[in-house]
Amino acid sequence: MKRFLRILQENLSEERISHSLGVARTAYYLAQKHLPEKKEKAFLAGIVHDIAREWPEERFIAYLLARGYEITSEDKLNPVVLHAPAGAYFIRDMLGIYDEEIFNAVSRHTLGAVDMTDLDMIIFLADLIEPGRNFAQRQKLLIASFRDLKRGMLLALENTLEYLTKKNKTVDSRTLMVLNYFREEVAKKSKI
Ligand SMILES: [Fe+2]
Ligand SMILES: [Fe+2]
Repeated sequence: MKRFLRILQENLSEERISHSLGVARTAYYLAQKHLPEKKEKAFLAGIVHDIAREWPEERFIAYLLARGYEITSEDKLNPVVLHAPAGAYFIRDMLGIYDEEIFNAVSRHTLGAVDMTDLDMIIFLADLIEPGRNFAQRQKLLIASFRDLKRGMLLALENTLEYLTKKNKTVDSRTLMVLNYFREEVAKKSKI
C-alpha cells in the first residue's frame, strides 16, 4: 500500500490526484448502480486511470513501443491520447495490478472503443463527470450516465464532437466510429 501511494505521488501532481480520487468515487457510485459486484474494482481503476497523464509525450511513446504497442498515424497527431494505454501497461508492470478488466478500462478511457464493457464505460464517464469537472453539460451527462451507461456514452461523444467541430479541430476517426456504435446501440434499445 505504501509503495502504491508512493508511485501515485511520483507520477501525479496534487491536482491530478484529487481528480483521480474524484473519478474513483464517481466510478464507485456508477458501479453501485450499474455493476454492483465490481464497485471496488471501479474505484481502483479510477484512482490509477491517469497514472501516465503527466509523463512527457516521448516517455509514453517509448514505453508503448517497448511493449510492442502499435502507434497509429492518428496517435501521432494527438499523442496525449496515448497516456491511456501507457498507463494501462504501467499499472500492470509497475504496480503489479494484473487485471484484464482494469487494463482495458484504463486503456480505453480517452478514445473509448466499440464493445466497451460496463466497467470501461464507467471509467470513461466518471472521468468526465467527477465533481472537479466544470462544463455546461456536466449535470446532464451525470444524470444520463446514472440512468443508462450507453446513453451517457452517446451524450459524452456527441459533446466531444460538437466541441471539436466548434474549435475547428480534427476529429479522430476512432471517435467517430465509437460514436456511430453508440448511436446504433441506443437506437436498438429505443426499439425494445
Ligand atoms: Fe486521462
Ligand atoms: Fe482523467
